[in-house]
Amino acid sequence: MTATLLEVRDLRVAYDKVEAVSGVSLAVGEGQIVTVIGPNGAGKTTLLSAIMGVLPSTGAIVFGGRRHEHAEIEEMVAAGMNLVPEKRELFAEMTVEDNLLLGAFDRYRRGLRDQDRTLDEVYALFPRLRERRAQLSGTLSGGERQMLAVGRALMAKPRLLMLDEPSLGLAPRIVREVFRIVARLREMGVSILLIEQNARAALQVADHAYVLEMGAVTLEGPAREVARDPRVVEIYLGLGHAGAQAEQRA
Ligand SMILES: Nc1ncnc2c1ncn2[C@@H]1O[C@H](COP(=O)(O)OP(=O)(O)OP(=O)(O)O)[C@@H](O)[C@H]1O
Ligand SMILES: [Mg+2]
Repeated sequence: MTATLLEVRDLRVAYDKVEAVSGVSLAVGEGQIVTVIGPNGAGKTTLLSAIMGVLPSTGAIVFGGRRHEHAEIEEMVAAGMNLVPEKRELFAEMTVEDNLLLGAFDRYRRGLRDQDRTLDEVYALFPRLRERRAQLSGTLSGGERQMLAVGRALMAKPRLLMLDEPSLGLAPRIVREVFRIVARLREMGVSILLIEQNARAALQVADHAYVLEMGAVTLEGPAREVARDPRVVEIYLGLGHAGAQAEQRA
């Protein structure tokens, strides 16, 4: 049995009076990839932001055996959580390498000065970033920016990496590369909470899956079983679905 790294119970998040996440419970086991799939506006980004302490919420967030109440983002980062946000939030005017080093800043401040070794590990994972280390990140391609955002999160050496739609807007070849990296990270011992609209790819790589619709979990189970659910097949895996979504968002 895998130990539970993250447990979220009855999480609720509201914007003004409108509830966007309505009582979500989920768990991520140590070394697992857990995916949350769901349509636009389902509350996926809101859910991640609340877990990370960016948005206020009610309910319980237990991470690494400790309950975090009204946690701020700094506390969650220090506890070993890291988020690659939907809007990658890179510093366009800074080089690739400086963006990466910023990812290690919190560790550095706590006296953990192993950023050079971590940088080498990240470059080993993304050779393209090493080649472009001196390039301003604002001039990177979409795929390279995505790699940089993931690389920067890894510089914090997180126990749990949360990815908000890492495949968004990327060409199929780059999408495959991103999912290959996700699987690789699990092998390296990083647990992953993966938000995706590309349900097919997400269900293939994940151990466990949740379907989030209108702020609530409507289905959950081992990813393999969720991928066989007739409703999921119809709505999320139907032929051409990924393409249609991409067009809708372009
Ligand atoms: N800052 C905000 N103020 C008010 N409402 C918001 C805010 N951010 C999000 N919402 C609303 O909350 C709901 C959930 O939004 P959220 O961004 O979490 O969805 P999502 O599942 O991530 O969608 P997508 O797949 O399009 O990224 C939506 O109805 C959205 O309009
Ligand atoms: Mg979102």
